[in-house]
Amino acid sequence: MSQIENVAVLGAGTMGHGIAQVCAVAGMNVVLRDLNDDVLAKGVAGIEKSLAKLAEKGRIEADVPEAARRRITTTTVLAEAVSKADLVVEAIPEKMALKVETFEAVAEHAPDHALLATNTSSLSVTEIAAASGAPERVVGLHFFNPVPLMKLLEIVQGLGTSDATIAAARTFAERLGKEPIVVKDFPGFATSRLGVILGCEAIRMLEAGVASAADIDKAMELGYRHPMGPLRLTDLVGLDVRLAILDHLHKELGEQFRPPALLRQMVRAGKLGRKTGEGFYTY
Ligand code: CAA
Repeated sequence: MSQIENVAVLGAGTMGHGIAQVCAVAGMNVVLRDLNDDVLAKGVAGIEKSLAKLAEKGRIEADVPEAARRRITTTTVLAEAVSKADLVVEAIPEKMALKVETFEAVAEHAPDHALLATNTSSLSVTEIAAASGAPERVVGLHFFNPVPLMKLLEIVQGLGTSDATIAAARTFAERLGKEPIVVKDFPGFATSRLGVILGCEAIRMLEAGVASAADIDKAMELGYRHPMGPLRLTDLVGLDVRLAILDHLHKELGEQFRPPALLRQMVRAGKLGRKTGEGFYTY
């Protein structure tokens, strides 16, 4: 397919607004879509804050924030968001029924040449692709949080994803300055499957009273050189997000992914990590 100029990002949450930001910085026009104006405003504020920080640190040129910001528009109307898109990236909550409904609508309103991507971190790309009626154009583009700083882009090939779509996804990754890996569609892919098991064991250790949250994190930071420990990372990703991944992988892959009771309790209490001000730490 030809060069991607126009991108629609569906979902303005942590991942969605991060993806919109990196596309705009790479020179693409972005329409960011969410269900209401408050969520969109919060997403745009997050983009502005991040761009200012990156410029302050000299990681992008001083004129990039304004130029990138001008390339981003917002809407609450899905048809409007995707009507001119060369690429649609879905970053809505991790619920299959929602994804299916969204891909049905995207297929109806996006141009026939558009590449259709899901940022799912564990759900079946093949199942999502089936809803679009054009599985050859559907691919997993799994970004990592914080999107502007993380180098990896995990490209997930569904059963029907064409080689041309994978090639276009690789080119897109390179334009964003990301390192791609291509993996087969299998629950948890190459990243989440390993990432969540570490977080899961850390929570079980906390439940068992092996050590404090801070010391479990310190163990992995200083003993294994992880940039942040598994509990601090769970706070960054969101406890609700990790629980949804674990519930799915438990069903698909078995007992080792059974979510710890403490995680479910904390989610029920609204302690979702950084975004709510409290998780394993307070912010
Ligand atoms: N935009 C711009 N700047 C940001 C930012 C963003 N989105 N997020 C954080 N920063 C800034 C901070 O504000 C901080 O700035 P100050 O130094 O001025 O306070 C700075 O980045 C931190 O940079 P440092 O160099 O001090 O810290 P660091 O080298 O530890 O990098 C990090 C921070 C990149 C987040 C690093 O800790 C890290 O790599 N952590 C692990 C992240 C990770 O594993 N992510 C994957 C999660 S799993 C996932 O996302 C997938 C899924 O499916 C759930």
